[in-house]
Amino acid sequence: MKKTFAKILIVMIATLLLAAPQAVQAKELTGELEIFSWWAGDEGPALQALIDIYKKQNPKVKVINGTVTGGSGVNAKAVLKTRMLGGEPPDSFQVHAGQELIGTWVKADRMEDLTPLFKEEGWMDVFPEGLVKLIGTDKGIWSVPVNVHRSNVLWYVPANLKKWGVKAPKTWDEFFAIAPKLKAAGVTPLALAQNWTANHLWESVALASLGPDKWDALWAGKLPFTSPEVVKAWELFGKVLEYTNSDASSLSWQQATDMVLDGRAAFNIMGDWAAGYMFTTKKLVPGKGFGWMASPDTGGEFLFLADSFGLPKGAPHPDNAKAWLKVLGSKEGSDAFNPIKGSISARKDSDLSKYNDYLKSAAKDFGKDRVVGSLAHGVAANETFMGGFASVMEMFLKTKNAKAASMACAQLAKKAGI
Ligand code: GAL
Repeated sequence: MKKTFAKILIVMIATLLLAAPQAVQAKELTGELEIFSWWAGDEGPALQALIDIYKKQNPKVKVINGTVTGGSGVNAKAVLKTRMLGGEPPDSFQVHAGQELIGTWVKADRMEDLTPLFKEEGWMDVFPEGLVKLIGTDKGIWSVPVNVHRSNVLWYVPANLKKWGVKAPKTWDEFFAIAPKLKAAGVTPLALAQNWTANHLWESVALASLGPDKWDALWAGKLPFTSPEVVKAWELFGKVLEYTNSDASSLSWQQATDMVLDGRAAFNIMGDWAAGYMFTTKKLVPGKGFGWMASPDTGGEFLFLADSFGLPKGAPHPDNAKAWLKVLGSKEGSDAFNPIKGSISARKDSDLSKYNDYLKSAAKDFGKDRVVGSLAHGVAANETFMGGFASVMEMFLKTKNAKAASMACAQLAKKAGI
């Protein structure tokens, strides 16, 4: 009898000991969580889908959705820099996978290593190896990717093209052949918005001109910016700009998309958040309300970028932030966010039945195309380079001097350690 009692006691103690870590884990989170991003306004709904999941899981945490408006983070990044340097980091912030993360915040030793979280959540095998490399160094893994966006997409309205008697151009030569006709009909051939969208257009044009091998060589420091190929890319860009709207600098990227949708312009080259805008905000059906194609001369190439969130050192609520990161990396979170956002999941096991025709085609291309990294959205170069590149672009938009732009980029590359 005594023996049986002792056995029961041992089992009870063992059960308690085993349950203890889980009990600690399950402790209900309280306090605040500040999420910092540039997903405001039209870009808000996808983020909200993630916040909704988080709130369900952590009802006692007060979520502060800190957004700073401005496409591609033009304003948010400046605010973030001030806060990080001033010792007031948010709990978690949006940052592009690649050099924007590694060559900027990781290099400055401002991020927490998320390797334990990746292991705990089984993410090492869930995200593509190439992507994990972009968010990691030999010292750790520094952010959680939420999506894969494509930069080199040409958007149009099929019915409008039909009306004007033109086809979506597969090459820049085809574009230059139809552009005068469109212009004569009072239609802007290519809609452009504020300066960061010129950087965005530049990368599609430069990739077309250089080809993927030389594009990669450029960012690996193996092809000098002063080489004739790069000068030629700037020249092609200058020629393309002749067919854009003169009020570009005062427009948001959504307003450039609107120009295409209401027939003031024939085409726009923008990342596939434009698809998100067209189907989530404008309720258009992919393939009917809007059409798409790889930007001219980049068929079979996928100019890629990924949004991610990290945990900065000194974040006021690190436990709440880790719970947030768990939602971001989860299958549930990913497949709630991406179908609204206009991006595909960064996970290899996403449920494609939840994604529309545009996104299905993007997923297919991502699986078979040559994947190269975006400059305008943080993969290829760090913030030092990008800050300077914005000034080079401003100068180029005024002067159209291809040689001067190439020379200026060469100096920048040196400063940025490319
Ligand atoms: C990109 C970002 C996208 C989208 C876009 C427009 O840099 O990766 O998710 O937000 O800017 O703002």
